[in-house]
Amino acid sequence: MGADDARGFISLDELIRPRTAAEPDACGCAPESADSGCCAPGSAEQDAGCCAPAPAAAFVPVETHVKQRYDALAVQGASTLCCSPTSVYTPEELAAVPEWVLELSSGCGSPMNAIALRPGQTVVDFGCGAGLDLLIAARRVGETGRVIGVDASTQMVRTARRAAREMGLSNVDVRVGDIRRPPVREATVDVVMSNCVLGMFPDKQEVLRAVAGVLRPGGVAVISDVVYSDGGPPPPDVAVGESAGAEDFARCVVGMTESQYRDLVLGAGFGRVEMRSDGLVPYRDGAEVTSAMIFAYRDDSPAQPCC
Ligand SMILES: C[S@@+](CC[C@H](N)C(=O)[O-])C[C@H]1O[C@@H](n2cnc3c(N)ncnc32)[C@H](O)[C@@H]1O
Repeated sequence: MGADDARGFISLDELIRPRTAAEPDACGCAPESADSGCCAPGSAEQDAGCCAPAPAAAFVPVETHVKQRYDALAVQGASTLCCSPTSVYTPEELAAVPEWVLELSSGCGSPMNAIALRPGQTVVDFGCGAGLDLLIAARRVGETGRVIGVDASTQMVRTARRAAREMGLSNVDVRVGDIRRPPVREATVDVVMSNCVLGMFPDKQEVLRAVAGVLRPGGVAVISDVVYSDGGPPPPDVAVGESAGAEDFARCVVGMTESQYRDLVLGAGFGRVEMRSDGLVPYRDGAEVTSAMIFAYRDDSPAQPCC
């Protein structure tokens, strides 16, 4: 991940936002000025309803913001979130993938390159987006294997299904669903991958427990996320459950340090956790972030090493 990538986040406000207090209303008046002289009492403007106090911004749950955001991105057709696929996959790997999948890709690592998939394995991509990782995985597990993608954004799911069809991949099944309650049978999956998704959840352990739940004995999850460095300033608190904090969740940066994240994964029911990270890049307020790859083994002694 390069420094430019780290700065390349789109503000969620650009796509969806309730009106903020500072934004002028249709009459050109700042809402907070409504009672303080923007409209003269009894004036025609006030009679016409201009400069009435702004309604309070409606509460929008974080997951609704996130889903709307990715639906909008899928329709818009290009993402500038997180890393460019060419920085994480080789030209050979990307050769057969439709251009529009690359443009929508919003990952921050390459879980598929961190693990040696074998033919016949069942792989699930939690938060698959437009499907880049699952398309690459599908070729690696072959016709005897199976790749299931799960995403909350209907538009992203449509995009991933279309890509699989165009690439002639019959072993790909993309499902609309919430990864906290994944539409996947318990204990049936060899490998769960997730690329830049967990940052969007106020309760990350809920997702991690769901990941552990679908893994079969000996299974492993490979999770890529952007985390704060251990040595720098602490990550800022994000407002859980308030629409004002939704932008923080819709970004890819997990509001945790490397070691906080590792402890969180361990506490979610995995037997063993390993973590590798890329170099640090500057982020906001003097903090540094890194793209971390987490290997979370369901059991403490995996049947076979994954990588
Ligand atoms: C940053 S994008 C990453 C997409 C993909 N992994 C990639 O590398 O391009 C995050 C994805 O997570 C999905 N997502 C967010 N919340 C979700 C949820 N509760 N359940 C399923 N998917 C979710 C979004 O719709 C989006 O496609």
